[in-house]
Amino acid sequence: MSHSLRVGIAGLGVVGASLVALLARRRHALGDHEARVAAVSARSRRDRGIDLTGAAFFDDPVALAAQGEIDVFVELIGGADGPAYHSVKAALTRGLPVVTANKAMIARHGLELAAIAEASGVALSFEASVAGGIPIVKTLRESLAGNAVRRIFGILNGTCNYILSRMETDGLSFEACLAEAQRLGYAEADPTFDIGGFDTAHKLAILTSLAFGAKIDAEAIHIEGIETISQADLAAADELGYRIKLLGVAERTERGIEQRVHPTMVAKSSAIAQVMGVLNAVTIDGDAVGELTLIGPGAGGAATASAVAADIADIARGAVPPPFGRPLAQLEAAARIPMQRHEGGYYVRLAVADRPGAMGAIATRMGNRKISLEAIMQKGRPGKGGAADQPPVVPVVLITHATSESAIKETLDAALLDGFILQKPQVIRIERE
Ligand SMILES: NC(=O)c1ccc[n+]([C@@H]2O[C@H](COP(=O)([O-])OP(=O)(O)OC[C@H]3O[C@@H](n4cnc5c(N)ncnc54)[C@H](OP(=O)(O)O)[C@@H]3O)[C@@H](O)[C@H]2O)c1
Repeated sequence: MSHSLRVGIAGLGVVGASLVALLARRRHALGDHEARVAAVSARSRRDRGIDLTGAAFFDDPVALAAQGEIDVFVELIGGADGPAYHSVKAALTRGLPVVTANKAMIARHGLELAAIAEASGVALSFEASVAGGIPIVKTLRESLAGNAVRRIFGILNGTCNYILSRMETDGLSFEACLAEAQRLGYAEADPTFDIGGFDTAHKLAILTSLAFGAKIDAEAIHIEGIETISQADLAAADELGYRIKLLGVAERTERGIEQRVHPTMVAKSSAIAQVMGVLNAVTIDGDAVGELTLIGPGAGGAATASAVAADIADIARGAVPPPFGRPLAQLEAAARIPMQRHEGGYYVRLAVADRPGAMGAIATRMGNRKISLEAIMQKGRPGKGGAADQPPVVPVVLITHATSESAIKETLDAALLDGFILQKPQVIRIERE
């Protein structure tokens, strides 16, 4: 016997409006239950081209969460704090299950909200908050429960991947690609949040918690964006067999869990390197399954609503999974690893003074810190120095064997003081398969 699940939706924007349309189409597809939009909230009551017949309208999403005649509260407003946070808190406190697509809120308040959900015995589900339509939360929480995850990494921001893909395939500058992404609606008017790596970091924080059974700790993430990536880097990467992607990476090491977001060199042959344009991808390295990569749309109304609907379907079936995969008391407080202790291969692009002894001095500095080189490439002919009184500059690219971040930094600081490096070096970490 089926009965109706009354859904309350706060936020009728890109995702919210798509969800209303999806639930109308797939009304009978969520298990035994018919999902019915019983109440909604948005700032304005304008016509959005969706059928809201029979849905009560609330100007205040907190009032909808606290008093609406609903069985599940869906938060699609956005923002870490403000009405999103207060309405979710009100719903969970009242004992209503919550579904949200809000990575910023989960990254900041996830532990507190999960504690309220646990105390109330209800679900707090956020499949749509990471990588849009890709079912990564469920995959980690359920399908890979038999694995100890060693490393998880992903392309988690479609805007950055679009810009890097266009720069690579069409030889355009970062600025030109960003302007194009804004014109096409892939990038916000203020793109800092995307291109600076912060959006990726929110998603990585959630993945790290799910993958390693650790308390969410967004503050522990080392974050760098893609603003400094140039055609010179893409051309060198191509020649050396790499592509450059903005990755979020979390890895369990003997010292704790390393979490970092930065432009990364990935081998052209790797699965993740094939992911171009606005698509997202996540690779999970599990001890039993090996390496698994999921690729799909990371944003867009319909794709994101697909993930929200999956969470609603679980709730309709009565599932109350722990939000982060295990009860809060069992989540580990993992040690934070400072970036200086990261170990791996490095790409270093230098503007070296065209003077006798320059390369020798740099090599000595590297040798002092036991950095060994896998490849060295002189790119192009000597060009003009930075200032009129400076010697010509030789562009040099180095690929190191595994070394530590602190060794690279100290070497380059010393070489800069020696006066043979004439511009700030470009350093890009290499992620091995
Ligand atoms: N867009 C995507 O592709 C995507 C993908 C993955 C995750 N997400 C996440 O999904 C969430 C929603 O994103 P979106 O793109 O759908 O945002 P959006 O288009 O900006 O929609 C936000 C909605 O929230 C409503 N709202 C804002 N402040 C409100 C308030 N104080 N009271 C009531 N309603 C309020 C807005 O009302 P009005 O329409 O009246 O202004 C609008 O309907 C965010 O957390 C976002 O990070 C989005």
